[in-house]
Formats: sequence, C-alpha cells, structure tokens
Amino acid sequence: MTPVTMQTKLVIFFLNVLFYTSCHLAELQICHTCNGTVLDQTEVGRFCSSSAGRVEGRCCLQQLNSTQTPHVITGLDLSNCSLNQIADLQDASTAVVIDLSSNPIVNISDAVFQGCAALNDLLLPSSLSCPGGNASWETVSISEGILLCRGQRSMCNETGHLSLSCPENSLCAPDGPGFFRCDCVHGYHGYKCLREGEFPFIQVFSPLAGATVLLSLVLWATERRKAKSN
Ligand SMILES: *[C@@H]1O[C@H](CO)[C@@H](O)[C@H](O)[C@H]1NC(C)=O
Ligand SMILES: *[C@@H]1O[C@H](CO)[C@@H](O)[C@H](O)[C@H]1NC(C)=O
Ligand SMILES: *[C@@H]1O[C@H](CO)[C@@H](O)[C@H](O)[C@H]1NC(C)=O
Ligand SMILES: *[C@@H]1O[C@H](CO)[C@@H](O)[C@H](O)[C@H]1NC(C)=O
Ligand SMILES: *[C@@H]1O[C@H](CO)[C@@H](O)[C@H](O)[C@H]1NC(C)=O
Ligand SMILES: *[C@@H]1O[C@H](CO)[C@@H](O)[C@H](O)[C@H]1NC(C)=O
Repeated sequence: MTPVTMQTKLVIFFLNVLFYTSCHLAELQICHTCNGTVLDQTEVGRFCSSSAGRVEGRCCLQQLNSTQTPHVITGLDLSNCSLNQIADLQDASTAVVIDLSSNPIVNISDAVFQGCAALNDLLLPSSLSCPGGNASWETVSISEGILLCRGQRSMCNETGHLSLSCPENSLCAPDGPGFFRCDCVHGYHGYKCLREGEFPFIQVFSPLAGATVLLSLVLWATERRKAKSN
C-alpha cells in the first residue's frame, strides 16, 4: 500500500468513526434523561428480558440486522424522573413500551406520540388521559396512580385495504395513537399520489449533473488557455 492510499483509508476510517459516534450519541441521549437504569421488576424491565433486549440507562435496546442502525429503542422507562413536561419522544418512536409514570407531568400533547406506531404499552400518571383518547386503545385502566394504555388500535382498515380517508393510489398506515398517514402505492408519488411512475431521479438529477460537468470543462479550458497565454 502506498502512503497516500494508507492516509486516505485512515481519514475515511476516522470520518466513519466520527459520524457513527455522533449519530449514536444523539439517538441514545434520551436513555440518560435521568439517573438510574431500567429495573427488572418494572414494565419495561420485564419486556426487555422477555424480548432479549439490552438495557442501556433508561432504555431497552434491540439489535437489528442492518449495519446502518445497530440498535433501536424498544423500551423507554422515564418513570420517577421528576419530569414536568415531555416535549419530544422522536428518538423513541420505535418503542413498544414507554413508562412515564410517577412524574409531575401536567399535560402532554398527543403529537408527542405521533409516529409511535409500535407502541403497545404506555404508562402515564393517572391525572392524564391516553393519547388519541380511550378509543385508540384496547384497554385503559388505572391502578395505584398509574394510567395504563394497552394495545394500540390502528386507525386504518385492518385488512390493509385502500382506506376511504386516504386519496386514491395510497394506503393508510398507522402512525401512532389516533394518527394515520397515507403512503402512495408503488408506482405513484407526489401531491395526493397523483403522479404516476417512480420519482424521476434520472430526469431531475442528470441535467444538473450534466450542467456541472459542462461548467467544469469550460472553466478548466479557460484556466488552461489563461495559463498558456501567460
Ligand atoms: C445523578 O447522579 C449524579 C452522580 O451520581 C449526581 O451527582 C446527581 O445529583 C444525580 N441526579 C439526580 C437527579 O439524582
Ligand atoms: C435478519 O436477516 C435474515 C436473513 O438475511 C432475515 O431472514 C431476517 O428476517 C432479518 N431479521 C430482521 C429483524 O430484519
Ligand atoms: C423515586 O426516586 C426516589 C429517589 O430519587 C426514591 O427515593 C423513590 O423510592 C422512587 N420512587 C419510586 C416509586 O420508585
Ligand atoms: C399545558 O398546559 C398549559 C397551561 O394550561 C398550556 O399553556 C400548554 O400549552 C399545555 N401544553 C401542552 C403540551 O399541551
Ligand atoms: C377512559 O377510560 C378511563 C379508564 O376506564 C376512565 O377513567 C376515563 O374517564 C375514560 N376517559 C374518557 C374520556 O372516557
Ligand atoms: C375495510 O375496507 C373494505 C373496503 O374498503 C370495507 O369493505 C370494509 O368494511 C372495511 N373494514 C373496516 C373494519 O372498516
């Protein structure tokens, strides 16, 4: 290996490490919202050991196949964290179990749970109500000051048929308690899925690429001519 390729490889390696660590840290920050770790005899703890997850701070992480995302948050236990508001659960949108009980939370917007399509067990202080309303859950119960919202109901037609609430050429997909979104079916894209065909990457990007190459050539040629005439 020449020293140059060696250097290039090292630079690429360090860039990769930097990129990986920064993403990794940003994603797991929520797991260290407060002290302590997930305990065995809690809702999240039981879920984590039964699903062969790994505990990290207040999270249960699950290893996935893909090398791009080495793990996702499947459980989040922020109980007894002295939180008085929850602004964002974006990084835990893959969670199946979320425990926010024993916190002095005054209110919590339904939008916080938008995107949490996998959420199946949600524990809240009993002064609150289940996001999306009771109708968005199979069972709603209160015990020992904890509100348990269990079994998220899909807003979509269970059979996965084209939903009446979604425009033509799109399918309804669950998007968290009380939420749904409309995904264009294969072969359609754009506003209200009205455009037929794949997104035209080639048509959109090749003129750009062509223009860039042409401009570079022109610049190069003029520079060369200047250099020659000097
Ligand atoms: C968390 O732990 C650190 C170090 O153990 C301590 O200094 C800090 O006061 C703790 N914070 C809370 C909110 O308990
Ligand atoms: C992991 O990869 C195997 C084989 O490639 C595949 O069968 C399996 O469904 C994947 N599991 C997940 C969780 O993606
Ligand atoms: C909450 O945390 C405090 C210490 O921070 C502890 O004394 C108390 O027992 C905890 N309560 C529950 C219900 O876990
Ligand atoms: C919580 O309640 C306060 C006061 O009633 C209100 O100003 C605030 O917008 C509410 N926050 C959310 C997230 O609903
Ligand atoms: C939702 O269900 C809980 C538990 O059964 C009940 O206490 C609460 O009043 C219900 N909320 C509404 C808006 O019906
Ligand atoms: C689902 O959609 C199909 C076709 O649009 C309809 O016949 C059926 O009644 C729907 N089922 C429910 C549970 O909404």
